[in-house]
Amino acid sequence: MPELLQKIPNAPVTWVGAVDWNVRNFHGYKTSLGSSYNAYIVEGSEKVAVIDSVKAPFSSELMDKVKQVVDPAKVDYIVCNHAEPDHSGSIKDLVKLCPNAKVVTNNLCKKMLGMMNDTAEWQWQVVRDQDELSLGDRTLKFITSPMVHWPESMYSYLVEDEILFSMDSFGQHFASSKRFDTDYEWPLLLRQMKEYYANILMLFGKTIQRAVKKVAGLPIKVVAPAHGLILTDRIPDVLAKYDDWTHLRPEKKVVILYDTMYDSTERMAREIYRGAADAGCEVKLLRLRENDLTKVADEILDAAGWAIGSATLNENMMPTVGAAMTYLKGLLDPADKPVMSFGSHGWNGKGVDELNKMLEAMKANVVTETIKSKFRPTPEDVEKCYQAGLELGRKALEHYESKHTEAAE
Ligand SMILES: Cc1cc2nc3c(=O)[nH]c(=O)nc-3n(C[C@H](O)[C@H](O)[C@H](O)COP(=O)(O)O)c2cc1C
Ligand SMILES: [Fe+2]
Ligand SMILES: [Fe+2]
Repeated sequence: MPELLQKIPNAPVTWVGAVDWNVRNFHGYKTSLGSSYNAYIVEGSEKVAVIDSVKAPFSSELMDKVKQVVDPAKVDYIVCNHAEPDHSGSIKDLVKLCPNAKVVTNNLCKKMLGMMNDTAEWQWQVVRDQDELSLGDRTLKFITSPMVHWPESMYSYLVEDEILFSMDSFGQHFASSKRFDTDYEWPLLLRQMKEYYANILMLFGKTIQRAVKKVAGLPIKVVAPAHGLILTDRIPDVLAKYDDWTHLRPEKKVVILYDTMYDSTERMAREIYRGAADAGCEVKLLRLRENDLTKVADEILDAAGWAIGSATLNENMMPTVGAAMTYLKGLLDPADKPVMSFGSHGWNGKGVDELNKMLEAMKANVVTETIKSKFRPTPEDVEKCYQAGLELGRKALEHYESKHTEAAE
């Protein structure tokens, strides 16, 4: 069933994207509410542009929708803001459908598209940062946004209608029949936007700040991202959240990640939890067997401190802990949130040793000594865990203060 076409009010812009209701795993990200790939048609008085495309399996939906809006022979431009296949995957079909269209993108994106497609027959219009393209009574302006979140990514801006096509930034994995932020409650939009930021964009705080600064001077009435809802009312709220997230400005929260086979490491985690809570932090306890990486990233994004623990399994940490560390090493930079490690073992503590190597590799800000217990933690081990949790909580509060003072300056 094709999704409805939807117009952006008071602008010659129609959403022609696809809703992916059933995707539950987007390259590892557990998309519990599905997703959408947003593409748009902009109809100027003289020229017509399609902005972005959809993931390849949804290509025929996009082709049908384009045909419903315009005669494909009248499409002059296919703008590509980002070469990742979830948005560029059906450009090849658009090129066939629209024989007179040029693919409009920057030079690097053109090269990338050439590595993913047979582009021998494509016509191109290469644009640079700040270039404008006239559609008659409408103008598209291109603003490069390197590493948001790929090197070739760029924004397109519809000058007269003040619409920013922001590709992945400000996106959310959220399948919906309605298209706008005003159609849903803010807490739901915020939840999806935060989870998306944490899992896709967390590493790119600095480059996103740069990109946001580049468009800050432009009047923006609408932000039309490449995934999820289009923003109209909530733009200031979203920008405030992005300011916190891109600066990794935390809540007063400690997250404890761990896995266990016979509950000794769990017992340790619970004492660290008590300590950090007594220090005044909100604490979240996530056993990694039950909590997926998507949830881990989402909770770590606004944590002021974290603890990571593992039982030793075959001279290593448990694979769930290894996966979480690998994922966080990729996302957390700088890894300056206070952290501690812990775990139970039987005859050597190699699991936690391996874990510590990964903390070292990510240049983590380790603030207490590692705590190891042999099999079931002794009362002394339990007390050590409580004290370490207390110390971690205090350091997390200091981290919170320093990040928020920095913001006030
Ligand atoms: C399959 C298996 C492999 C293990 N491998 C090791 C090991 O290589 N080194 C070690 O010190 N302990 C090893 N242990 C012992 C556990 O680390 C020990 O039982 C620990 O207390 C488990 O902590 P937990 O209760 O949090 O699961 C192993 C246990 C199991 C069940
Ligand atoms: Fe992307
Ligand atoms: Fe995307």
